[in-house]
Amino acid sequence: MDTKKRANSQDFVRAEGGFCAKNYHPLPVVVERARDCLVWDVDGREYLDMMSAYSAVSHGHLHPRLVAAAQRQLDKVAVTSRAYYSTTLGPFLEKLCTRAGFERALPMNTGAEAVETAIKCARRWGYRVKGLPDECAEILVARQNFHGRTTTAISASSEPDYRAGFGPFTPGFRYFDFGDMASVRAATTSETCAVLVEPIQGEAGIVLPPEGFFRELRDWCSEQHILLILDEVQSGLGRTGRWFAFEHEGIRPDGLILGKALGGGLLPVSAFLADAAVMDVFTPGSHGSTFGGNALAAAVGLEALRVMEDENLVARSAALGEYLLKRLRAVQAAGQPLIRAVRGRGLWVGVEVDPAQASARDLVERLARRGVLSKETHETVIRFAPPLTITRALIDQAVEAFEAVVLEKQAELAVNSVAAPAVLATPAAPVALRRRAPTAAAKLDESAPHLLMSPPDFFEVAYTINPWMNPEQWALDAKQLSQDAHAGWAALKATYEALGAKVVVKPAARGWPDLVFTANCAVVLDGKAILARYLNAERAGEQAHGERMFEQLRARGEIDWLHRTPEGVYFEGAGDAIYDAGRRLMWMGYGQRSCRSAHHTIEQVFGIPTLSLELVDPRFYHLDTCFCLLSGGEVIYHPGAFSEQGRAQIQALVGAQLIEAPAEDAEHLGVNSVCVGRDVVMCHCSPALRQQLEARGYRIHVVPLGAFNRSGGAAYCLTLKLNNLYRGRGAVVEGERRWAEAA
Ligand SMILES: Cc1ncc(COP(=O)(O)O)c(C=O)c1O
Repeated sequence: MDTKKRANSQDFVRAEGGFCAKNYHPLPVVVERARDCLVWDVDGREYLDMMSAYSAVSHGHLHPRLVAAAQRQLDKVAVTSRAYYSTTLGPFLEKLCTRAGFERALPMNTGAEAVETAIKCARRWGYRVKGLPDECAEILVARQNFHGRTTTAISASSEPDYRAGFGPFTPGFRYFDFGDMASVRAATTSETCAVLVEPIQGEAGIVLPPEGFFRELRDWCSEQHILLILDEVQSGLGRTGRWFAFEHEGIRPDGLILGKALGGGLLPVSAFLADAAVMDVFTPGSHGSTFGGNALAAAVGLEALRVMEDENLVARSAALGEYLLKRLRAVQAAGQPLIRAVRGRGLWVGVEVDPAQASARDLVERLARRGVLSKETHETVIRFAPPLTITRALIDQAVEAFEAVVLEKQAELAVNSVAAPAVLATPAAPVALRRRAPTAAAKLDESAPHLLMSPPDFFEVAYTINPWMNPEQWALDAKQLSQDAHAGWAALKATYEALGAKVVVKPAARGWPDLVFTANCAVVLDGKAILARYLNAERAGEQAHGERMFEQLRARGEIDWLHRTPEGVYFEGAGDAIYDAGRRLMWMGYGQRSCRSAHHTIEQVFGIPTLSLELVDPRFYHLDTCFCLLSGGEVIYHPGAFSEQGRAQIQALVGAQLIEAPAEDAEHLGVNSVCVGRDVVMCHCSPALRQQLEARGYRIHVVPLGAFNRSGGAAYCLTLKLNNLYRGRGAVVEGERRWAEAA
């Protein structure tokens, strides 16, 4: 290559093509630099990265915190080998094990090496723990799996392209059909030591398991004393909208393989995780890797996990994944028969193309020409797996480009079809495609709400625990305010009932004036309640009362389970945990009354992705004072209540459905509202806000709640919804079982 003149794409393609082994078929895009979700080629063209290096770049390209962590470590030491200890490996593995719920982790570099580690571990466990005779242990693997490219990994593969010409193969694998328990049972022998399987088959075309398959597989493995090992190299670490894809299945595996995103898009970092009873079959000298767990990799891996937590990347993946799926399904509906299926979980979506109409590769190349990078898998599936930092606006851009590609291809197919002249004159399918995908993230939630309220019989402003409270002022006019409180509360209840809600009334108790604010006493989802743990001593006494009240609800069958956050982890119920059915996540507020770590309890008990937002203004001390979710997916919010990062996250997820509350409404607690279908019940609504809401098809019902405003509360605070559904009543998640045991 002539290095004197400025080289262009063609020069680099020629150079790489000339000297590099031809084991890949890259798209003709020469990437020179990248930042977050964007990539630029050597000719200066910009692309949106919807592939993120097969999920290795889940944090976005060159995340500044990851680059800084790497640079800090590069000033100290990079590679020590495991001949010595380092200051970074212990903290990294502790964080990883705690996050995934395992006792031990064995660090490696690439995904394939971690798979090899798991296979070695399973075999040794088979001999030393299960008691199998030497040299006979078998591992069951799914047909169409992908576990990497080493000789052993391809020995476990059923794909001719991966295997041809590379035999002889490692023995000891037997196949079953993914998703088919009968086939698992038939493949199991007395010598089976493990099942090794991807929770979602990625390279096979993002193939999801049938409902219940993994629960049955888990039970089968436990019964047969077989290890269940999940390869989450691609599906793990937020890609599917959960930290780990096994969380969707309500199970816990015996071994977990991670890679790709664990290196934060900077380095190859992988690991195999298991409990001591399994992992301790490894003894010094039995397994290792010179680079595995090096100090630099561990520093980056630790920061990668922290960034994932701090930036709510898992909950973003859940919410934006729903959005991406919906938008692609709209393209599919109009793009038939070219697009046969759209499937996925979180920000991991496969679009299946009818091979009789087009190849996935053809569409991927056209998409790249329109500035969007994706990648085919096999001939028929286009994969979309953007960085988890992507925004709704960028998803819109990608889907619009894809829609244009589908349009273009359909128009060509129409021209080439038998009825060419007529189709040319009126291209029916492309016109249909021009219909825009619905912008609403959520379907209108029409289910009649089931609400808990408590009358203001002993309500007064007796102490000051937020800036709205002023006991002296209240005392001046206590009688009138108490009457106003009763009138406002009764009007609110009547309004809810007129809108079809069922209201359960719980008696008030003398001495606990804030009991009236039922939103704070718990949050309820799928019949499970997480009860409050109040920060302020003034309200702490409400806890026992709340528990009694919920015990009664449980006795009546209104609630199934009661949970609480761990000691010292404050949490003020639905006021700080707003369930978003459309985006399938929990929005959580922290920093004033609730602790950030309460989101672990929410995630574990409900099994729901939780997006935590820091509240920075003491006047907006609960999320419900500055964030109101409407049933069509719109969010009314008060930007000043959130940190800059929180604002950016809300904007990225809610996009055009975001409604900024005028200061007047925020300051009158108008954001503290309740939406029932298309009706919004509010204590205050400025003309500007009313106009915005009505333009979106909502009806406004203003109920004066001035007496409660003096305590910093309004409609939402006075209401607790008992019938939120996510997985459905009775759903038990593995995390919940473990959490309940720990409690
Ligand atoms: C499920 C799964 N396992 C293992 C691997 C291999 O990882 P690596 O390419 O880092 O060796 C991959 C890579 O795509 C994968 O998707």
